[in-house]
Amino acid sequence: MSDFTPWLYDPKLSFADNLRLGPFGDFDKKPAYKNNGEPQYDFFGTKVYSPFGIAAGPLPQAKFVKSALDRGYDIVTFKTVRSHLYPVHPEPNTFPLEYKKFDPKKPSETYTVKGTYDFPLTLANSFGIPSFEPDIWQKEIKESFKLLGKGQALLVAFQGTLQPDGREKFIEDHVYGVGKLRETGARLIEINLSCPNEGHSNLLCFDIETSTEIVKQVKLTYPDLNLIVKLSYFYDDGHLREFVEAVGPYIAGIAAFNTLQSQIIDKKGERAFNGPATRAIAGVSGEAVKHLCIDMVQRLADHRQKLNADFKIVGVGGVQTVEDFHNLRRAGADYVMGLTGVMWNPNLAAEIKASL
Ligand SMILES: Cc1cc2nc3c(=O)[nH]c(=O)nc-3n(C[C@H](O)[C@H](O)[C@H](O)COP(=O)(O)O)c2cc1C
Repeated sequence: MSDFTPWLYDPKLSFADNLRLGPFGDFDKKPAYKNNGEPQYDFFGTKVYSPFGIAAGPLPQAKFVKSALDRGYDIVTFKTVRSHLYPVHPEPNTFPLEYKKFDPKKPSETYTVKGTYDFPLTLANSFGIPSFEPDIWQKEIKESFKLLGKGQALLVAFQGTLQPDGREKFIEDHVYGVGKLRETGARLIEINLSCPNEGHSNLLCFDIETSTEIVKQVKLTYPDLNLIVKLSYFYDDGHLREFVEAVGPYIAGIAAFNTLQSQIIDKKGERAFNGPATRAIAGVSGEAVKHLCIDMVQRLADHRQKLNADFKIVGVGGVQTVEDFHNLRRAGADYVMGLTGVMWNPNLAAEIKASL
């Protein structure tokens, strides 16, 4: 099957043109999804109609948030922002990939791009978490909050930028940037500790000491915030337990996981993403990683129980069908979010609601 119709993101266009022209399709002409009855699920203090939502990525402006809410997505995440203007990587920024089950035992997986977007989809992306200046994204986020109706919740997300003058400045960047997000009225904020497109091989979440210091400083500065941290896949379960033990006291939730770092090559075996050499590595999402998301959610739930911790688990990775959603819930996810599957199927939220 290869009838991919762009909705939230058109891979044939640049990121700038997506912002200018999106969202796509004729959804604005269709009646908005109507929820019935009362919202039954608690999402960090807000009652929502279903525990399924859209993960950080395809909603960079209020108009995209509106489109998602109208299609029945009641938990929506505004695309991750930074404390300052940050450019997007050169286009293209996504490729569909040949399917291969992600093997976490390998030091590095390699994926080959293909020509068509097929279902179920495995995707590579390399945007680099671009960001506008805070005054621009603050306006969009405030507008997005105004769009929320009964049973709907907005999550906002932040990523720090590595500073040339060291760790303290990096931590300060988080405190400052999260503060700018808080000025929009947001009290639930996801901190991304796991972006694979930053051009360094060691993800922040694997550095438990720095991750803990960041989350602790942010929480001490703004005690009224509920923080979610977004992780990558932890292969070493002892390492994951250590992370949960150290960071657990400061957070309300863990989102697992981000796209997984891999080498992306074209059919000739050459680097698929052009530009800086660091782009040889990009993030893989969708079908290839879904077994690992189930595994990670199960282990997080296990650690939570053994450590008597009370954070919520947001399962993100490879959800493209109603069954994928239920598998993650059974594994222990309090909430489930999708991105690759949502980009493919605008009706996924409605299909999941019908199955609840
Ligand atoms: C096109 C694209 C853009 C993304 N942008 C972000 C982002 O801005 N911030 C973030 O934390 N994760 C981002 N992600 C990662 C997703 O939020 C999600 O964690 C990952 O894709 C795994 O879920 P999936 O398999 O359902 O796609 C992005 C992923 C894709 C495919």
